[in-house]
Amino acid sequence: MAERFQAPRGTFDIQPAESALRVSLYMAAAEAFERAGYGRIETPAFEDTELFARGVGGSTDIVRKEMFSFEDQGERRLTLRPEGTAPVCRAYLEHGMHTLAQPVKLWYWGPFFRHERPQAGRFRQFHQLGAEAIGSDSPLVDAELIVLLNDLLHSMGVNSLTLRIGSLGSLESRAEYRKELQAYLHEHGGDLAKDVRERIDENPLRAFDAKDEGTRGVMADAPTMLDRLDGDDADHFAEVRALLDRAGVHHELDGTLVRGLDYYTRTVFSFESDRLGAQSELAGGGRYDGLVELLGGPATPAAGWALGIERVLLVLGEEGGAPPVQVFVAAPDSQRDTALGLVFELRRAGIAADLDLAGRSPKGQMKQADRSGADLTVIIDDNGAATARDMDTGEQRPVDLANLTKELG
Ligand code: HAM
Repeated sequence: MAERFQAPRGTFDIQPAESALRVSLYMAAAEAFERAGYGRIETPAFEDTELFARGVGGSTDIVRKEMFSFEDQGERRLTLRPEGTAPVCRAYLEHGMHTLAQPVKLWYWGPFFRHERPQAGRFRQFHQLGAEAIGSDSPLVDAELIVLLNDLLHSMGVNSLTLRIGSLGSLESRAEYRKELQAYLHEHGGDLAKDVRERIDENPLRAFDAKDEGTRGVMADAPTMLDRLDGDDADHFAEVRALLDRAGVHHELDGTLVRGLDYYTRTVFSFESDRLGAQSELAGGGRYDGLVELLGGPATPAAGWALGIERVLLVLGEEGGAPPVQVFVAAPDSQRDTALGLVFELRRAGIAADLDLAGRSPKGQMKQADRSGADLTVIIDDNGAATARDMDTGEQRPVDLANLTKELG
């Protein structure tokens, strides 16, 4: 036998039994975004490598070691998108969206790619649901985004949530804090992990994300940006928090929240679930007031978030199966045409209907009806007469096939 293939490491097939729940999450998101005035955007699965190198930041793990990059036949350097914010900002500029009423509110759902070590909740191809609001620095935008995410997670059935929130200040005010943190890290260099020590000058904030004990010990006493927040930054953050309180969204302050992308400014946040293991973050985001300008556009404040679909599914326990059938039609061979005609008629009337497609015996068809989860089974006999069976109560009654669709519709 010829050698068989497997899906590449860190990737997976989404089989029909797992699809139903994904579709319902998508629908819930689409409805919530529509109510909140967000338009759907789709950007390509790959972009110029430089977009991420510049946008996400050359010193981040994503750019340093997690990108799937390649050269195409025209010797262009391209990368499978590891995240959606830089591409959405690219599209915002490319299509002149800064001339529209601001902020421009966009959402997306699609596959993303990171060359990480696969484990539960961490894949090389995964799906994000994301939202970006570009063109306003109002704290209302931060609050709207966070409340939207909070409500969406609850509507998806995710309840064991912790929202952590911090502020990284504006780029200008952070410059001073960075120097202070760098001095602190150099002072404790001997206790830091090698890669943290090597990145003190390039990216000192990442030390807050280190997992080794030595670094964690040092960082427990490190000054945080939250301690140094002042002026407009402090007012902005206080306003975001007050708006969350008013919306009844509980949140925990966390000055060590830095997140793994360089573009963040001011508000940063993450939603975690205690039902996930090491990869406990379900969703995260924040403000990125410098990114559009960094990508060659005018100075444009913005904020957003992304949610990991596979992590939500893990929390929900991947319940769900094939799409539910409302009506199953069972019939002997002689009445197959009648059964098929009825199924088509029901489906056209918006009723989920199905029939046996594998030549099962009448008994086998009843078993199939049961498995399908149908509420009602229509049993057609050899003469074309029909009985409807309520699958919950087992009650049966004769029905007139000519009027059935109208009766059920
Ligand atoms: P991120 O925190 O890198 O942010 O990713 C967002 C979410 O994607 C994570 O919270 C996690 O649920 C999911 N995720 C990330 N990597 C993986 C993986 N390897 N396997 C499975 N799920 C994963 C961003 O990507 C930003 N663009 C979010 C944002 C939008 N900030 C502002 N706007």
